[in-house]
Amino acid sequence: MEFKEILKNKIDYVEKLLMEYMPKEEGYQKTIMQAMNYSLSAGGKRLRPILTLESCKAVGGNEEDAIPFAMAIEMIHTYSLIHDDLPALDNDDLRRGKPTNHKVFGEAMATLAGDSLLNYAYEIMLSSSLNKENSKKYLKAIYEIAKHAGIYGMIGGQVVDVESENKIIDKDKLDFIHLNKTAAMIVGCMRAGAIIGDASEEELEKITKYSENIGLSFQIVDDILDIVGDEEKLGKPIGSDIENHKSTYPSLLGLEKSRCIARQLIEEGKSSIKDLPLEKDFLNQLGDYIISRDC
Ligand code: IPE
Ligand code: IPE
Ligand code: MG
Ligand code: MG
Ligand code: MG
Repeated sequence: MEFKEILKNKIDYVEKLLMEYMPKEEGYQKTIMQAMNYSLSAGGKRLRPILTLESCKAVGGNEEDAIPFAMAIEMIHTYSLIHDDLPALDNDDLRRGKPTNHKVFGEAMATLAGDSLLNYAYEIMLSSSLNKENSKKYLKAIYEIAKHAGIYGMIGGQVVDVESENKIIDKDKLDFIHLNKTAAMIVGCMRAGAIIGDASEEELEKITKYSENIGLSFQIVDDILDIVGDEEKLGKPIGSDIENHKSTYPSLLGLEKSRCIARQLIEEGKSSIKDLPLEKDFLNQLGDYIISRDC
């Protein structure tokens, strides 16, 4: 089977599960469930839940054990997108091929939908872990996700991203932004998957290196596509970074150098998992897809 078909099957699998995990739209507060489900069901690449499951499998674990975590990470990621698009942040009108959450539900509900997705993610992870015999390992996995989504991860990166608008920053600071706002969630979900799969310290280290590299490369490509991409394929506006005077890889180093660094990071990421004993073909091919993607 071709990689694209394999990926499509994994996306379908994750989406089917996600539909089961979405909150029911009922009660006086049902507007908030509608706003959460609007963004959750709008599509997207589902990269983070797929990586959570793959990482668990790559160290010999049972991917089913990681399903609630895969769902939760997609909810946290979706919340980060809803808030990222708000007028106070990137002020974008299109996401996953649809009007952004605040365009449909208004800023108050979009803010609350983000808050709710974040909280619901922890409800799912905790309720599925509470009665597990080996609940300590699941607690460790929750901690990985919490840490990488917070001020020492995604939120930290978003803060410096916003503060760096209209400024020239050096590459160290740019790497801080990219490693935190984007790579951190990818590291967090893969480490959580690997912990659930009972990874050894050595395996966890390899997975961490791989995920940091593909995460950084993923954001460099996102910056490139914001300039040369196709709005219809991407399902989000192009030119947003220039409009917001963002500090990006292409703005600092140019398109060609950025492409070259993105490629190099993927090669290093792939080589860091080359002696994992188990199935890693998919992870290698996913690395290649990240730099060749147009959506
Ligand atoms: C968008 O992430 C935000 C970034 C970190 C670049 P994705 O490109 O993974 O968005 P979806 O989930 O496919 O919509
Ligand atoms: C945002 O980066 C990363 C998040 C934490 C959401 P961008 O602002 O570049 O993401 P897009 O381009 O809007 O998806
Ligand atoms: Mg942003
Ligand atoms: Mg944005
Ligand atoms: Mg972007």
